[in-house]
Amino acid sequence: MTSRALREAFHREFMTFFERAERTRRWNVFTDIAWNRLAGSAQMADPRLVRCAETFCGVEMYLPDYLRAHLDLMRGDYGRAWFAANWGYEEAKHSLALREYLRRTGARDDGELHDYAETVLARSWRAPYGDGRRMTIYGAIQELTTFVIYRKQRRWAERLGDPVLPEIYRLIGRDEMAHARFYLRMVGLHWLMTRTAPAPTSRSCSAPSGCPQRTCCPTTRTESRSCAPPASTAGSSWPRSCCRCCER
Ligand SMILES: [Fe+2]
Ligand SMILES: [Fe+2]
Repeated sequence: MTSRALREAFHREFMTFFERAERTRRWNVFTDIAWNRLAGSAQMADPRLVRCAETFCGVEMYLPDYLRAHLDLMRGDYGRAWFAANWGYEEAKHSLALREYLRRTGARDDGELHDYAETVLARSWRAPYGDGRRMTIYGAIQELTTFVIYRKQRRWAERLGDPVLPEIYRLIGRDEMAHARFYLRMVGLHWLMTRTAPAPTSRSCSAPSGCPQRTCCPTTRTESRSCAPPASTAGSSWPRSCCRCCER
């Protein structure tokens, strides 16, 4: 569980993120993509672009698993939980826009798209880490990676002359970059709070009750590698790392 100060900082950061998203980044799957260009386009969608769009649509369709992991980890954290709700809304549009591309170009029909969704959702994604701090770092890397991928796809679609895909990738990529920036801010807050956290007190000492170092922890607050065992335990096989509680 994060500290109250960290949760308050997360909330303030989320409010900044959300205000900016509402003001500058909202987009509509139905009206902000020039789908009518497809009707006037004589050429079929390039099968290479179709295959990539389908692949990324599939990746985005694991949203229920992504969200579940997010919300389970952030349940008691107001700012992070609300970010997850907003993030899920934005991510939902990514798979929907790509799905609409596949359908409206005629590259896939409704039956194929239904089968594809069922195939994707028959499997599940599991979070690689079980704590919020590591998942935040993981999220920052993932969002940055997806931004880079969508930017490359956008340029490729432009070169191949697709009438709508560059704009779809531009809108999605802009969201991914905003997500990456938010996660990076969260990583920064975690780091800052770790740096400024008060030294542990004896009440928080979690050394095993039989540990001969237990009494040194609250006063020396030394790291385990410099924690010398008391003379009374000389020759004891008790590991020096038992005083790891001092590192917290
Ligand atoms: Fe996405
Ligand atoms: Fe994202």
